[in-house]
Formats: sequence, structure tokens, C-alpha cells
Amino acid sequence: MRTPERTAPRPDGVSRTAVLTAQARAEEQRRADRLFEDPLAGPLAAAAGGFEAPSDAARQAAAHFVVRTRYFDDRLRAACAAGLRQVVLLAAGLDARAFRLDLPAGTRLFELDLPELVAFKEDVLARHGARARCERTAVPVDLRGNWAGALTAAGFDPAEPTAWLVEGLMTFLPQPDNDRLLGGLSELSAPGSGLALEHVNSAYRRLPQMRRAQERLARHGASWRSAVDDPAAWLAGHGWTATEVTHQAEVAARVGRPVPEIYDPARVGDARIWLVAAERP
Ligand SMILES: C[S@@+](CC[C@H](N)C(=O)[O-])C[C@H]1O[C@@H](n2cnc3c(N)ncnc32)[C@H](O)[C@@H]1O
Repeated sequence: MRTPERTAPRPDGVSRTAVLTAQARAEEQRRADRLFEDPLAGPLAAAAGGFEAPSDAARQAAAHFVVRTRYFDDRLRAACAAGLRQVVLLAAGLDARAFRLDLPAGTRLFELDLPELVAFKEDVLARHGARARCERTAVPVDLRGNWAGALTAAGFDPAEPTAWLVEGLMTFLPQPDNDRLLGGLSELSAPGSGLALEHVNSAYRRLPQMRRAQERLARHGASWRSAVDDPAAWLAGHGWTATEVTHQAEVAARVGRPVPEIYDPARVGDARIWLVAAERP
């Protein structure tokens, strides 16, 4: 049976980057040796019109996106295994973890993203009859504003320990906004909460190999605006203890994937995409 046409507008501006990552997951889904299952990535990326023909840097970035997806999947599974049943995905984009992961019974998962992106995603999911495997709530918000109020109004319980995932967002926000975001989620984090986030360092932002990719993203209204050189210290300043500060190349090796040139320390020196896990004592 043909899926009815969507009615919500396609993601635009910075939200279009969610199409890029969904497209990478859709391509991963076609591999026999895939790092995760994501059957909704293809329909979501296709409904969004896909992303323009990939450059070499974009292909290498796609290799990162799938390794990153697996990293955050593993962190979320670990948080659930430790007993956490409240999950918040900040800048969820076209993420389908609520549909594809076998989360424990009683898990409540909140997805936050910009209103237009949320409207588009809900429309496509509804048209595909997608059924979440947990209690899922989409919260349309601008993460530079009063998102905490919207989250609690949607049923989030600050007294319950939370697993926070911040994947693919921070470099698009100025660091003062990231600082407010981290401060805000910290205030909502009961003891025992966990956090996984991705950011880049300043050497990575300066990489000549990434200049064209940055220019292309900027044309879509998705400029890179920030970096953090010492994520553990930054997190400690907000009351978090980093349990792991790793980076793209290490995680790629861990999951058995080649390290793309633009992430290989032998070629890019100190440039890093951080993948960080932390807990709230
Ligand atoms: C690269 S995508 C990552 C999406 C998803 N986490 C993933 O890894 O596939 C970046 C996401 O950040 C969202 N975003 C950017 N700025 C935002 C803001 N100020 N408030 C809420 N979401 C924002 C975009 O709409 C987009 O969905």
C-alpha cells in the first residue's frame, strides 16, 4: 500500500543536518555488518528529500555518524542496565531510538527539537504507522530558550535520575548557549543521572580539510559556532564526573570500523570529535 504524502514542510536550516545523519543511518541499514538497526531512517530521510550528493568530507562524516550512533546506543543501553528509566534526547532530530531499541518496560523517553523538525517527524512517523517501544513524548522547543519548562510540562520528573543524550548539537550552538543548556539539564538531574554528549575541539574546527564542509553547512544555516578543549573540566564545572572522554578514532576502532582520514590522529594531530560520558554523583 502506498504511504500517503506528508503534509508538514521538510526540515530546513540547521534542522536539515538531521537529514544528513538519518541518511547515513539509512545507508548503514543496508549493510550486512551494520552497527545498529534503524529501519525508519530510510523513510524519514527520503520524506525529507535526502541531502545533496556527498563530497569526500561528507562521506567521511557519514562514517562518523554511524559510529556515533552506535556509541550513543551503547551509552543508553548502559544507562538502562544501571536502572535509569527516564531518557531525554536533546536535539533528537530524526532519531528513532524510541522505535528501534529494546528499552526496558516502563522507560519514558522525551525527544526535544525545534518545532518544525518535530512536526515533520511526527507527520512521517504517523504516516508509516510507527509504534514506539517505550512511552515516547516529542517536545517542540528551541534549546536556546526555556526548554526546561516545556520538558517538565510534558511530564518529565526532575526527581527521577535521567539519561541525557546530546548528539550532534553542540557545535551548532555558541558556547554560551551550550553552557546554559548544560546548566539547565544539570539543574534537572537527580543524583545517579547520566549524560552522553558529543562536541568538537578547537583544533577540529580549524582543520583545513573541514573548511569546505563547514562552508556547505553554513549555506544551509548550520554554521559551526563552538568547540570545547577540555570536556571533563567543563562538565566538572556543572557538577558532573566524566567517566569516559573518548573520540571518533577510538570508538571507530572499538566497533571495528576504519578511521576516516579527517579523524585519524596520525593525520589531523590534536583535532578531535569528543564522545563523552558522565555521571551525576
Ligand atoms: C546534526 S542533527 C542531529 C540530530 C540527531 N541527534 C542525530 O544525531 O541524528 C542536529 C539537530 O539539532 C537540532 N537543533 C539545532 N539547533 C537547535 C535548537 N536551538 N533547539 C532545538 N534543536 C536544535 C536540529 O533541528 C537537528 O535536528
